[in-house]
Amino acid sequence: MKDRQAIVVKNTRVADEIWSMTLRFDDLDEIKGAQFLDIKLPDRSKILRRPFCICDFDAAEKTVEVCYAVVGGGTKVLTEAKEGDKLNVLLPLGNGYSPKGKKIMLIGGGMGAAVLPAVVTANPDKEFYAYIGFANAGKVVLEKQLADNCTNVTVATDDGSYGKKGFVTTVAREAYDAIQPDEIFVCGPEVMYRAIKKTFEGVKTPVYVSLEQRMGCGIGACLVCNCKVKRADGEGYVRVCKDGPVFLLDEVVL
Ligand SMILES: Cc1cc2nc3c(=O)[nH]c(=O)nc-3n(C[C@H](O)[C@H](O)[C@H](O)COP(=O)(O)OP(=O)(O)OC[C@H]3O[C@@H](n4cnc5c(N)ncnc54)[C@H](O)[C@@H]3O)c2cc1C
Ligand code: FES
Repeated sequence: MKDRQAIVVKNTRVADEIWSMTLRFDDLDEIKGAQFLDIKLPDRSKILRRPFCICDFDAAEKTVEVCYAVVGGGTKVLTEAKEGDKLNVLLPLGNGYSPKGKKIMLIGGGMGAAVLPAVVTANPDKEFYAYIGFANAGKVVLEKQLADNCTNVTVATDDGSYGKKGFVTTVAREAYDAIQPDEIFVCGPEVMYRAIKKTFEGVKTPVYVSLEQRMGCGIGACLVCNCKVKRADGEGYVRVCKDGPVFLLDEVVL
């Protein structure tokens, strides 16, 4: 992990309050899917860096894509970054996801879908079945990007305004028996992990989740991002930024 200077190559609005930014670096370490980066904002009043998952990357071009929702002051400042601007970025952070099986079911909810393309790019020898869910048609992102390299991509919207109507957890569970994946990888809000626990109850396939917590340092030093886990040796706390963000769902205390 290094603090590097990135050049903004592109920063455009891609859906309702959702933007995509491409950053170019002089050099890039190897990236695993579900790792993240921490951006220093070009606004001195905002001291804390903002974490975003590495949505996708191109190792040859030394570029990284970030797909972000505008939710507050920091992400608003990011929308103002123009082509050629420089940003300080710490990356790659976190443990990332290394699939062991061949057939992987990906499930993304809302901005959680932004974790998935890099998982596919980092593992070109695997077979991916992606299920992505959004509130409505205006929020749908990354469908085409995933479709380019996944065996199948299914979109669900809560209100049925695009793709299948319903929660993506239910839609993915309906498809599970036919696919019989070796592993399931999920990224979304905590409420979605609770739903996955319930919907996939009894399913033996290991489920990995990428957790999102409020963060301070992003590198394991401040303990702001603690999360409770239950393992064979008892309960304890882990740091989402350093020990995660990827954990086995069975181990996470929700
Ligand atoms: C490891 C990690 C990866 C992330 N990846 C992405 C991503 O790929 N795309 C994306 O859009 N967002 C992602 N986030 C969330 C993103 O970091 C926050 O949305 C962003 O920092 C908000 O900054 P802000 O200054 O605009 O908002 P603030 O003014 O700080 O907060 C505005 C609102 O956003 C909520 N918020 C702030 N930080 C978080 C957080 N960490 N988790 C949940 N809600 C938060 C606040 O509760 C508040 O309601 C990620 C967070 C983490 C920890
Ligand atoms: S954000 Fe500081 S330890 Fe995780």
